[in-house]
Formats: sequence, C-alpha cells, structure tokens
Amino acid sequence: MAERSFRATVPSNIAFIKYWGKRCARTQQPANSSLSMTLSGWQSRCQARRYSEISGDHRFFFGGQEFRGQEPFSQKVFQQLQRITEETGFHGSLELKSENTFPTGCGVASSASGLGALTLAAVAACLDLDSFEALQEAGWSRERLAGLARLGSGSACRSFWGGFVLWEAEDRQDGRNVRPLYPVDWWPLTDTLIIFSEAEKAISSSEAHKAAWSSPLFAPRIAGIPEKMAMLRQALQDRNIAQLGPLLEQEALEMHSVMMTARPPACYLSQEATEFLAAFRRYRQKSGIPLWFTIDAGPNIHLIGEASAHQQLDIYLREEYPHLKSMRDSLGSGPDLSSD
Ligand code: PMV
Repeated sequence: MAERSFRATVPSNIAFIKYWGKRCARTQQPANSSLSMTLSGWQSRCQARRYSEISGDHRFFFGGQEFRGQEPFSQKVFQQLQRITEETGFHGSLELKSENTFPTGCGVASSASGLGALTLAAVAACLDLDSFEALQEAGWSRERLAGLARLGSGSACRSFWGGFVLWEAEDRQDGRNVRPLYPVDWWPLTDTLIIFSEAEKAISSSEAHKAAWSSPLFAPRIAGIPEKMAMLRQALQDRNIAQLGPLLEQEALEMHSVMMTARPPACYLSQEATEFLAAFRRYRQKSGIPLWFTIDAGPNIHLIGEASAHQQLDIYLREEYPHLKSMRDSLGSGPDLSSD
C-alpha cells in the first residue's frame, strides 16, 4: 500500500443565483442554473491515505474526532466514499482526516467545501496521483471531479474553480455543465457574513430541496431564471455593483419565499435577521453604502460588495450592533492538491 498522504483544500462558495430544487435527486440534477462566487479563506481541508487492503473499511475523522456513519453528515461521507471507490476502481480502504477553517454551523456552506475536499483527496489517494495535471492525464478532468463531488453535495461542484462559476441545469453536449465565467482577478468582491445563529438547521437543505416543487412560486421562479441570469452576468461583465446588488437581494428573497410557501414550509430567517435586513436597507438608503445582501438556507446574512464598502460597514456594525458576530472573506482562486 502506498503510504503517502494526499491533501486537498477546497473553498466554500456563495451563490448569487441559487440552486434550489432538484430535477433528479439521485443524479443531483438541479432544477435551475446557478452562479456563485468562490471564496478564499473559508475552506475545507482533507487529508487522505490508503490504509487497508480490505474494501469498505474506511475511517473518517472530522476535527480530530472519528465518525462511523451514524450521523446524517457522516452517512453522506461514507456514501460518497462508496461512489469514489467504485468510480476509481480502488478496492482497499482509505483513512480521511477533514477540518474546516471556519466554525461549523456559522452559515458558511460546509457541505460544498467539505464534500469537495473529501472527493478530491479521496480520488487522488485511490489513483495515487497528486496534481490536477496528473489526474487530467488519467481521465479525471476537473469537470469529472466536480461531477462526482456534486453527487455528495450539489453546490460542491461550483467550488472546483476560482472566480465566478456557472452551473447550468441543461445537459451540455461537451459535458461542461459547470465552468468558470470570470477568473479570480476579475472583480475582487468581498463577503461579510453576519452570524445570527450557529445552531443546526431544523430542516435539512435536502428535505427543503424536495419540498420546493410544492410552492406555487416555484414554477414562476424557474421561468424567470434565464432573464435574471442574463442580467446578473451582464452586471459581472460590467463590474457594476449598483446593477448586481438589487439582483442579489431579489434572488435571495425569492428563494426564501419559495421555501416559506412550500409544503412543508421552511422558514430559515429569524426575527433578528429580518430586523437587521430592514435596518440595513434604511442605513443604505441614507448613507449610500454599496453593499448588498444574499442569504443561503439559514438565518445568517452575507453582505457583498467591494473592499472599501466593508470598511464603512465596520463603523456601522461597531456603532449599531457591537455584539453581533461577523466573519469576512473574498473572491478566491479555487482548490489545491498536494501530497507528502
Ligand atoms: O448543495 P446543497 O444541497 O447544500 O444546496 C445548497 C443550496 C443553497 O446553498 C441554498 C444555494 C446554493 O446554490 O448554494
């Protein structure tokens, strides 16, 4: 057995147009195309090594603690390892050690970065290849890696590139359903995450994805995506925050409206978060601060804009919300792979 360890670092991403609802849960085909910004410092790191010749005897550690597949999140991990060993034709078992650079439950998409890093490290260990170039030569392009990671967590596929990344719902002939649109140096946007809750979600996003179709707002949402996507891409092309910002907010609130009107309904926003949003909008109207919010499946709020606007935000937060927790990250360059 090869003893070397493979280290994968995969960042989280924040969607500007959200993936909400699946066309097929088994193949994780999304109901709509989505577009995200890859982050930089909010990452998952996973170290994988071949450790036994017996198949199906994997060991998985997260944050130094061993998990055996009883909890929902580690069940996903073991299912993903099963897929990876089947796809790569590896017959032994792996030992995997994962960690996040951000606190779990803080509202950063840990399933995207976590399943992404696990997939990249595990495929590298199974094939004994330690660079994207070597994987590509062996038939494992970034698209293929992203496609496999997507089966573990849909949004993970967008974390395989830096910059701004598009995941298209329609099957493309060339298989490039996920691809980078603009590189990391295109427009250095920054994300301040305002943390209202670090608790586990009461309704998992997998359950809420399923319920999305029952909302009367879902069909009109899907019909409106192409136009919204075109406008958002134009705003990115022009690096125009005044054009991008209102689209971000409308999109996040639209997804939350679908969630709240589905059966069963999911309401992820807390009273504290909605009050903050109302107050922040009043402050923006008065001050003109060019920062705009987006929200994932949770109560925490991402404020997006150029770096200078975040300095102005710090003053506002210090004065108005001295006890609120927040974290900051910016556009990143994508995943990394090495061995030792
Ligand atoms: O990848 P999942 O199944 O955790 O779904 C993520 C969905 C959102 O984060 C709410 C939106 C998105 O596109 O990232």
